[in-house]
Amino acid sequence: MTFLWGVATSAYQIEGAVQNDWTEWERAGRLKPGVEPCSGATGHRQLWESDLALLPEIDANAYRFSVEWSRIEPRPGEFDAEALALEARRVELLERLSVEPVATLLHYTHPLWFWREGGWDDPRSVMWFARFAERVADALAPRVRLWVTLNEPIVFLLGGYLAGLIPPGHRSFSRSARALEHLLRAHAEASAVLKSKDPTARTLIAHNMLDFAPDRSGHPVDRRLVSEGEALYNLSLVEAITTGRVRWAFPGEGRALFRVPELPASTDLFGVNYYSRVHLRFRGFPGPVGEFFYRDPRGRGLTQTGWEIHPEGFERVLRAASQAGLPILVTENGVATADDRVRRDFLREHALVLAHARGSGLPIEGYFHWSLLDNFEWLDGRRPRFGLYEVDYATLARRRRPSADVFARLGRQFRDERRAPAAGRG
Ligand code: FCB
Repeated sequence: MTFLWGVATSAYQIEGAVQNDWTEWERAGRLKPGVEPCSGATGHRQLWESDLALLPEIDANAYRFSVEWSRIEPRPGEFDAEALALEARRVELLERLSVEPVATLLHYTHPLWFWREGGWDDPRSVMWFARFAERVADALAPRVRLWVTLNEPIVFLLGGYLAGLIPPGHRSFSRSARALEHLLRAHAEASAVLKSKDPTARTLIAHNMLDFAPDRSGHPVDRRLVSEGEALYNLSLVEAITTGRVRWAFPGEGRALFRVPELPASTDLFGVNYYSRVHLRFRGFPGPVGEFFYRDPRGRGLTQTGWEIHPEGFERVLRAASQAGLPILVTENGVATADDRVRRDFLREHALVLAHARGSGLPIEGYFHWSLLDNFEWLDGRRPRFGLYEVDYATLARRRRPSADVFARLGRQFRDERRAPAAGRG
């Protein structure tokens, strides 16, 4: 099988121009101070055909995109035929370009009605999501064979149900546990629906994984926090997918244990989104026991999102992901920087780690760089620049960055198995 070498995007971050929970969040002034709302994002809604035509120019043979639920199902149970037809045209164009489509069903944004009806707290959310998946599958299967049901459910819960930082803005452990159960059941249900439409369809969850380190290497409590952090953030989903047993526990907040027995059989690959490493430090009592931050031990500078560039951690999280016993897809990896040389180094260094991890036997089937274009970065807006193509927000012009050449060259090496181990030379 050819290695998938592609880029990842999400609908809201490049299209905007819709009404969903994020637009409401923006209207309520919940972005960081000074950040402009997403609005029409990069104009991809109009420019989608010429944007997709960029994929062969960077030698991508795969493209991960998301379908915006609020466009497809603007009112509960009412599906927009035109919006579905547009998704089908997108996938047809990818086929003509010989680019493998990887469709994400839920990438953070929800229709407003979904929250009005009860959101992920409500057990009916499982059925709502499966019904949405079914309609999308009717339009896109069997052309789409790889489906990411959920993007980063743990990040979504931490931000949306525990820290109140993203929609729906809750701060409740018990609600987060209930929502996790429904999200995982929704993944399993949607997977069953997708496979009923196309028995060869393969499904996965894209899981954000971090490398963790103690702030003070000899400090026993900092080290303890690291193992707790790894268990909760990285491994709870690995365990859930492997065994169906879900453990969700926060020191001082609560713990939940439940089963979603269908999980192992409904999941075919393990998706890893990797960006950075965090350091953890014990703060003492009372209040939150620990704090986390991004350090810059090598003095390379943090990225525009404030993250450390740490390729070594990539291999560690890939190893942790491999405990699920499934083939792995790197569903996201990238860097926000105004200095494209940083992106070129980032690509080369992470490709080297990827080649090494594959060489040592990890079953990695593909890599998706975040992202094709600069885009709307959730709470930070347009400032972080993640694109292989620069977007001029005044004119919406796209300009190829030199890192696109590095990406293309590495891709050719990864697809040509005989040359893959030399990927680091890029
Ligand atoms: C990931 C998200 C993606 C993008 C990158 C930078 O956590 O999945 O949408 O914002 O971070």
